[in-house]
Amino acid sequence: MATNITFHPGAVTPAERAELLGQKGATVWFTGLSASGKSTIATALEQALLHRRLHSFRLDGDNIRFGLNKDLGFDPKSREENIRRIGEVSLLFASSSSIALTAFISPYVADRELARALHAKHDPPLPFIEVFVDAPLSVVESRDPKGLYKKARAGEIKEFTGISAPYEAPPKPEIHIKTDEVDVTGAVEIVIKYLEAQGIIK
Ligand code: PPS
Repeated sequence: MATNITFHPGAVTPAERAELLGQKGATVWFTGLSASGKSTIATALEQALLHRRLHSFRLDGDNIRFGLNKDLGFDPKSREENIRRIGEVSLLFASSSSIALTAFISPYVADRELARALHAKHDPPLPFIEVFVDAPLSVVESRDPKGLYKKARAGEIKEFTGISAPYEAPPKPEIHIKTDEVDVTGAVEIVIKYLEAQGIIK
């Protein structure tokens, strides 16, 4: 960490910002295996929120690795750094009164808990909603939209989540969606209802 740096507060308080923009910020954090449905649900949710005239922005694992995180691979340390950065970026979006939607495998409980803690430490605390996008390995492997599971089984991709790298399921997610039982529309409805019930959106 650098020394000789000073934090500059804004002239508008977080409460004033929410009041002026007519919207509270939050992070909806999707986690799950590759091909579990994270990106599909986040994309449909972003569309639904924007159609309600709510500011929302999706941060997607594959996309972010083309830019901000293009220096990172898939070894445990890189995944940790990937999620650390996204925890910070989602916090910035949430503190700007937007609804950040993150779609990352984010395989480690500790890394997701760090992102949660960042939101909790913010003044005032910002909602962090962890959504476990859950589908059995046999199901995601049969979907295999990018052919990655096939390559991982053939040993062509090392450290592939669920095959040769771990996935730690959230013990207590705010929302648990089983994508072999619920379709995309149903999943979006579940998240929207949760956001409404928590008073995050009207
Ligand atoms: S992580 O674990 O959170 O850092 O991963 P993430 O940034 O979400 O990137 C996951 C996408 O990268 C592709 N991919 C891999 N996934 C898992 N393991 C390995 N080794 C790997 N190599 C490439 C894959 O397309 C993932 O996208 P999704 O949308 O999850 O299928």
